Amino acid sequence: MDNVFIYDHPLIQHKISLLRDKKTTTKEFRELVCEVSMLMAYEVTRDLPLEEIEVETPIAFARTKVLAGKKLALVPILRAGLGMVDGMLKLLPMAKVGHIGLYRDPRTLEPVEYYCKLPPDAAERDMIVLDPMLATGGSASAAVAFLKKRGISSIKFMCLIAAPEGIARLHRDHPDVPIYCAAQDERLNDHAYIVPGLGDAGDRLFGTR
Ligand code: PRP
Ligand code: URA
Repeated sequence: MDNVFIYDHPLIQHKISLLRDKKTTTKEFRELVCEVSMLMAYEVTRDLPLEEIEVETPIAFARTKVLAGKKLALVPILRAGLGMVDGMLKLLPMAKVGHIGLYRDPRTLEPVEYYCKLPPDAAERDMIVLDPMLATGGSASAAVAFLKKRGISSIKFMCLIAAPEGIARLHRDHPDVPIYCAAQDERLNDHAYIVPGLGDAGDRLFGTR
């Protein structure tokens, strides 16, 4: 599928396997989400524009490249997206961070919005929406629609584990939004959990179950 990137780097695969393991503790889970996000940041930013500058090395002047001042913002979907922010910021310390609060109603499975705070110049920024799980795709699609309504046009979506159903939904609703994920799983179960997945990402990150 166009615009869908699945990372099969050995380090990412290794860490995703540890994340899936139900014996992984909350502390380890948090560290692993941070590490995988950092590894993915490297790929998600591959197309950032560069500009040439001149610097003086101890030996001579050099024409060399730096990021072309493109402004970035990370937008975690609360709660579980929060776990991905620190890893991303390690490689992108200049990024601003906005937040979108959505939870999935367990009965209807529809996303319910409860919070939004974005940087004041959000419309000029490239946004990377973060959520570890893309299950039905309802939350991701709603978050992207929400950003578009606020005039934001440059949006990427990054998750750790995606179900085929979620990829299809997000791609159908927002074909312009590239999807980056570390693993594509088999399917959703009757409760719209990803199989085999890793369980409830928010609960595992914050130790709430
Ligand atoms: C989880 C996950 C996504 C959503 C994915 O959040 O972090 O936001 O479900 O499901 P979907 O693709 O079917 O919309 P949840 O609603 O459990 O909230 P939480 O992060 O507060 O635990
Ligand atoms: N949300 C999660 O945290 N896990 C899933 O498998 C599906 C939605």
